[in-house]
Amino acid sequence: MKIRTGNPVRGDNFFKREILIEKLWDAIESESNILLVAPRRVGKTSIMRYLEDHPKENYHFIFLDTESVNNENEFFKRLLSKLLSSDFIRGRDKVLATIKEHSPLIKRIGKDGVEFDYNREFNYRNEFLKITEKIELGEQKLIFLLDEFSQTVENIKNDEDERKAIHFLHTNRELRQENLVDKNVRFIYSGSIGLENIVRRINASKTINDLVPIKFNPLTKNEAEEMINLLLKNVDFTLDGKQTDFILKKIEWLIPFYIQLVIQAIKDFQKDNNLTEINRDVIEEAFSDMITQQNHFENWHSRLKTLFKVDEYNFAKELLNRIAAHTSVESNEIRDIAVKQNIAEDYQDVLTSLMYDGYINNNEDPKIYRFNSPILRMWWWKYVAN
Ligand SMILES: Nc1ncnc2c1ncn2[C@@H]1O[C@H](COP(=O)(O)OP(=O)(O)O)[C@@H](O)[C@H]1O
Ligand SMILES: [Mg+2]
Repeated sequence: MKIRTGNPVRGDNFFKREILIEKLWDAIESESNILLVAPRRVGKTSIMRYLEDHPKENYHFIFLDTESVNNENEFFKRLLSKLLSSDFIRGRDKVLATIKEHSPLIKRIGKDGVEFDYNREFNYRNEFLKITEKIELGEQKLIFLLDEFSQTVENIKNDEDERKAIHFLHTNRELRQENLVDKNVRFIYSGSIGLENIVRRINASKTINDLVPIKFNPLTKNEAEEMINLLLKNVDFTLDGKQTDFILKKIEWLIPFYIQLVIQAIKDFQKDNNLTEINRDVIEEAFSDMITQQNHFENWHSRLKTLFKVDEYNFAKELLNRIAAHTSVESNEIRDIAVKQNIAEDYQDVLTSLMYDGYINNNEDPKIYRFNSPILRMWWWKYVAN
């Protein structure tokens, strides 16, 4: 397993999160439509890719990232295109023939996508439905992996309007509820920004309440140790049990991404200083270096600006500054900040968003809020608060 700190990981670079994978398959095999709930960088795309690359018998996954999509028709056009150019459909000549015959909108189907007849306007949702209904799945199951779906909802809300976003959510719900259920077609949605949260803010929670949420817990300590050992196979240093322990305590929130960042930082430090051995000081230095890699964390800050209105953003920022300074903040202090920023009425919403999106939690004591990870806290303190 090689260190990777940016794009989703695949193949040998994917650490097999057995617990999570099992949980996912349980939900898939119980025929649920699923919502992957986790903040950015927790490993949603990687795990979707893993499903796609390792399907169980009779399962076919089709992956689509819809981050840039900003209207309903485009969404279904992309979905249809992915479906038609997938290996699953391409391997079935008869299916292809009937589809072509019945669907005047398709001019050419290639591995890279589909050329539609652009001279005509189509309702791609209807075409998608019509074509999906035509595929005789039998025992086979077709599952769409829709990555960054929540961003699509937000795009539609921003670029069109709230009504259109709600319509889009309803259309998706209808597909799940009525038409495709008996056809062995299912959906797994994910997004770095909490879908539940976005949907709640536009009063449309009931459009997704049929989805089974799968929560991404951090790795267990055992898993994290195992992952570190795999990463160590491709570097020029070793870490003993105590050092690994020390690292895991410092990371606290054991998501694969942070483990990757830390091992990368130790590797860089070791190379730069020509070291043959690692000790605690080295680990400490590597952690400080890691925090200075601004680009790894900047989106945690910029995201707030797009998510919130000005006064909400000001509140969120002051709150996070305060937590960064004092490690934790109590709920009555939070109320005071909200009053000061003139959002005493709706600050709970912002607070919930910050929890959903992976900034903070109150797991240990419902009245006390902390950053999920000391790494993010240190970064916030250095680059945003000061
Ligand atoms: N199973 C995994 N094994 C190894 N690294 C992982 C794994 N899942 C996530 N990562 C790390 O986290 C980063 C972000 O993963 P990604 O799947 O893109 O997360 P998300 O889609 O939730 O933003 C990857 O670049 C990699 O460093
Ligand atoms: Mg992703």
